[in-house]
Amino acid sequence: MKAIAVTPMMKDSLRIQDQDVPKQARNEILLKVQKVGICGTDRDIISGFYGEAPAGDNYLVLGHESLSRVSELGRSVRGFKKGDLVVPTVRRNCPENCVNCKAGESDMCLTGHYFEHGIKGLHGFAREFAITDASFVVKLPESLSDVGVLLEPMTIVEKGMLQTFLMQKARMKKWKPVKILVLGAGPVGLLATALLRVKGLDVDTVATRSEESLKAKLVEQTGSKYINSKVSPLSSLENKYDIVFELTGNTGVALEAQNLTGVNGVVSYLGVYMHEQETEDAGKIYTNLVLGNRIQFGSVNANKSYFTQGVKDLLAIRKRWNGFLEKMITTSVGIEQFGNAYTPQSQEEIKAVIEFGK
Ligand code: BGC
Repeated sequence: MKAIAVTPMMKDSLRIQDQDVPKQARNEILLKVQKVGICGTDRDIISGFYGEAPAGDNYLVLGHESLSRVSELGRSVRGFKKGDLVVPTVRRNCPENCVNCKAGESDMCLTGHYFEHGIKGLHGFAREFAITDASFVVKLPESLSDVGVLLEPMTIVEKGMLQTFLMQKARMKKWKPVKILVLGAGPVGLLATALLRVKGLDVDTVATRSEESLKAKLVEQTGSKYINSKVSPLSSLENKYDIVFELTGNTGVALEAQNLTGVNGVVSYLGVYMHEQETEDAGKIYTNLVLGNRIQFGSVNANKSYFTQGVKDLLAIRKRWNGFLEKMITTSVGIEQFGNAYTPQSQEEIKAVIEFGK
C-alpha cells in the first residue's frame, strides 16, 4: 500500500513509499484511512526541523490530522464495529507511564518521552491503512464524514479554551468573559472564532488578509468582527480583551498579544514560534502581568476528552452556520497529487486535505 513519508530531519525528503498493510494487535484497530489534513507541523517536519522515526525504521509516515473507517478490530477491542467513522488522538503514553499519561492525560506528559503519530516515534495516518490503540479512538456520526478531518485542529481549541475557563473560574467567583480576541484566521483561528460565537461571546478575529478574502468572509459568517491587521495594526487595538488566543505562531504578534488583555485577562498561546531574538522590555511585560492579575499560558496537544467534546462542537458549529466547515477545506487532492497538499495552492488556502479514497 501507499504511504506518504519523510526521512526525519532531512529537508525535502517527502515521498510516496510502499509499505505492507499493518496487522492489528489485540488492543488495536486497523483503520481504512479516508482523509488526512495538513498543518504547519507537517510542513516543519518536511523542512527537516523535527520529526522522529519509529524505533527500527529510518522513515516516518506523516499525518496526525485524520479521519478513518474501522476496517478490522483486534480480538479484545469492544465498542466499535467495521465501517464506523473514527478519529484517533495523536499522542500515546510515555514508556514510563507517568502519572499524567496513566490518568489519560498524555497531553500533559511529565517525562517528554511520549509518542505522537506522524510526528514522534510512531507512523502517522497518511497511508491507505494504519493501526492504533483502540482506547485512543473516538467515534463520529456519519453526518461528519465530509468535515470530520477537522476534529484534531478543533481539539487544540477545545483544550486552550477549557483550560482558560477553568483557570479563570478558579480564581474569580464572578468571572464572566465578554470580549475575546483571536489572533490568526487559519484553521485553528477559524474554529476558535466559531466556537466562541457558539458560546455567545463577542469576538474580534485578526489576520493579514483583505476584507474580501475567504477568511474574512468566514469570520463574518459567525458574526465576529474581522480586523485586517495591515489596515488596523495590533497596536491600535484597545487593551480590553478578557481572553486573547494567539494562533499566528508569529513571535512579534505573540509579544504584542500580552499587551491586549484587560485586567484579570488571559493570553492563551497555541502556536509554535521560531527561536528568534526579539527585543521587548521584560520588566514591562512582568509588571503588566503582576499589576493586572494577568495570566499567560501555553497549551499543546489534546487528550481524548477534548476529541469527544470536539465532536459535539463541530456538530454545533455546523448546525449554526451552514457551509462554514466545508468552506474551510480549500484544497482536496488524491494521494498521487500529495505534493499539492503540502505546498499551499493559493493565498486563499485554509485547510488542505489528502483523500485516500480518491
Ligand atoms: C499537533 C499536536 C502535537 C504538536 C507537537 C501539533 O500540530 O496538533 O497534537 O502535540 O503538533 O508535536
